[in-house]
Amino acid sequence: MATNRTFTMIKPDAVEAGNIGAITKMIQEAGFRIVAMKMTKLSEERAGQFYEVHSERPFYNDLCNYMSSGAIVPMILEKDNAVEDFRTLIGATNPAEAAEGTIRNLFAESIEANAIHGSDSDENAAIEGSFFFSATERF
Ligand code: CMP
Repeated sequence: MATNRTFTMIKPDAVEAGNIGAITKMIQEAGFRIVAMKMTKLSEERAGQFYEVHSERPFYNDLCNYMSSGAIVPMILEKDNAVEDFRTLIGATNPAEAAEGTIRNLFAESIEANAIHGSDSDENAAIEGSFFFSATERF
């Protein structure tokens, strides 16, 4: 079923490199409406909670360390077919495999520092959006 909301965050590598504006511009030009947005920083513990689903993966500790290493920009986005269309816009997890012109192809540094996150399902989009934004911020 096509849905209309997804969750994203611009990751520390892309924030540090000064790419918030360029990435946000691509998101809006692709037809997404920014419903909620802020700049914040995760503690290692909060990063661990966000990525709990990956806690058994070998890269989990490095990922939590990296995701708490600098500022991030979480957002809730709205568009028809949001989850799927946003994953197309950002490209594959590994930037070496990301299609030309995608956000990760243009801005990611590595498979870990891959510039941006995109929810993989409607259910996770709702959970992840609630992780960062209160009900009154998700209007
Ligand atoms: P994201 O889409 O936010 O979801 C999980 C994150 O884990 C992923 O982006 C990458 O930042 C990271 N990741 C996934 N696979 C690997 C890997 N093989 N090695 C290191 N980090 C990874």
